[in-house]
Amino acid sequence: MNQMLNTKVKNILKMKYSQHLIIMILFLVALTSCNENKNNPGYAYMGKHDMYYTKFYKAYTPNPIFKDSMTNQLPVEGAVPRGHMPFPFATKSISDRAVNQTLAGMQLINPVVYDETSIAKGKELYNTYCKVCHGSKADGNGHLYTSGLFPAKPASLIGSYVQNKPDGEIYYVITAGSISGLMGPHGTQVASNERWKIINYLRSLAK
Ligand code: HEC
Repeated sequence: MNQMLNTKVKNILKMKYSQHLIIMILFLVALTSCNENKNNPGYAYMGKHDMYYTKFYKAYTPNPIFKDSMTNQLPVEGAVPRGHMPFPFATKSISDRAVNQTLAGMQLINPVVYDETSIAKGKELYNTYCKVCHGSKADGNGHLYTSGLFPAKPASLIGSYVQNKPDGEIYYVITAGSISGLMGPHGTQVASNERWKIINYLRSLAK
């Protein structure tokens, strides 16, 4: 009787012991499967690597596949970013600008509706990009000029000289700068539809 009880107790203890052992092992596996190096995936048990870990070249590393050995390739000639319309007029030289400013005035049509929203946005953009030179009243008395930092008087944008120009001409000036080059081009800073909004704002000042 005593003997039987003894083996029973022993068996129970054995079971407890093996349960503990399993829990300990699981705990150790969990512990060792963590890895300090986040770039290292550790052991991979499935997949023959290529599909899991794509081979690629980093942007600025040499590349044996391309002729010029560079991973970063230039876009092919004539490529344009999606949604971008190339500016169809030459802008480089004074003579380019003298001819094309007038041409743009005849050919370009303002696609942005003249309404309160576009005028309000135009004002915001004007204050950011034009006010320093052309002034808060757009009369040419901006801070850069009145403080003597800028040598030439910017044109008044509310006077008849500019107001009589068609929208396309003003658009050209914002994009390419003035004919003389005294005012620099703003085409890279101000997006196309933003230029039209600035023009809407300028029109609102004259009305
Ligand atoms: C760095 C100063 C400066 C900034 C910034 C500037 N302008 Fe000018 N702008 C001038 C000057 C100076 C002239 C006169 C240029 C000339 O006679 O060649 C001028 C001329 C103009 C003209 C008349 C061009 C012509 O045919 O005679 C327009 C229109 C104009 N600016 C619009 C703008 C608008 C819109 C912005 C903002 C997107 C702007 N400018 C930003 C300095 C500036």
